[in-house]
Amino acid sequence: MKRLIVANWKMNLGPGEASLLMRRLDEHIEAKSSTEIVICPPAIDLYPLAKDLDRKKFKLGAQNVHYLDSGPYTGEISPAMLAGLADYVIVGHSERRAMGEDDSLIAAKLSAAVRNNLTPVLCIGENLHDHQHNLAERVVVDQLTAALANLTADDIAGLVIAYEPVWAINHHDGHPPRPATPDDIRFAYRAIRTTLEELYGEGGLAGVRLLYGGSVDPDHCRAYLEMDHVDGLLPGTSSLNYESFAKIVKTVQSL
Ligand code: PGA
Repeated sequence: MKRLIVANWKMNLGPGEASLLMRRLDEHIEAKSSTEIVICPPAIDLYPLAKDLDRKKFKLGAQNVHYLDSGPYTGEISPAMLAGLADYVIVGHSERRAMGEDDSLIAAKLSAAVRNNLTPVLCIGENLHDHQHNLAERVVVDQLTAALANLTADDIAGLVIAYEPVWAINHHDGHPPRPATPDDIRFAYRAIRTTLEELYGEGGLAGVRLLYGGSVDPDHCRAYLEMDHVDGLLPGTSSLNYESFAKIVKTVQSL
């Protein structure tokens, strides 16, 4: 299975800046058949980036999607509208959960993505309170089970699941980033795999890729990739700096 790196640019860079960063990434990153690189810019950048993209090197993903294909939903973008521009879409990111997205909305968005041939990158992970109170495994299993409520075994072939402990994400709030250690997070990959097996049988794991996200940087990224069952990374902050991101890509490609 190819390793996967998903860059989450979050709410940064308008079309001009996005094209500039994409050009730098193109100059500093080589295409390798072992690795898939997905760039998730703000929605406004998808169209301009899609026009010039070297698709052998990069794919595009959206950071969000509506759960319906069209309708009177001011400001929203439907999965049907993304088809052709993006191959992937992030669903269930903790920053969107914090804005009010609940499990049933996330499940509806996952089905909408699958229905429109977009590969979902489902994000799950516990917050600091749950981490400190030994509730992390419960949260991971519950979020995963709820998100997959509408999906069949066929639907989840190709699904990407990113475990992102909320406490490890760089919130740019003045606190230094606190990346998780492999020992902190091993339980999550076991729990995700067991849950998939329980829901879908042994075949449930086929084609599903598991990522780690949360303050991923060039210095720490190797340790995650050396863990069993971690197939790739989801950097946010580091993906906005072409040198850092290119180093992360090189590390992934060297393994
Ligand atoms: P970070 O973001 O790398 O800046 O912590 C990761 C994410 O939230 O997806």
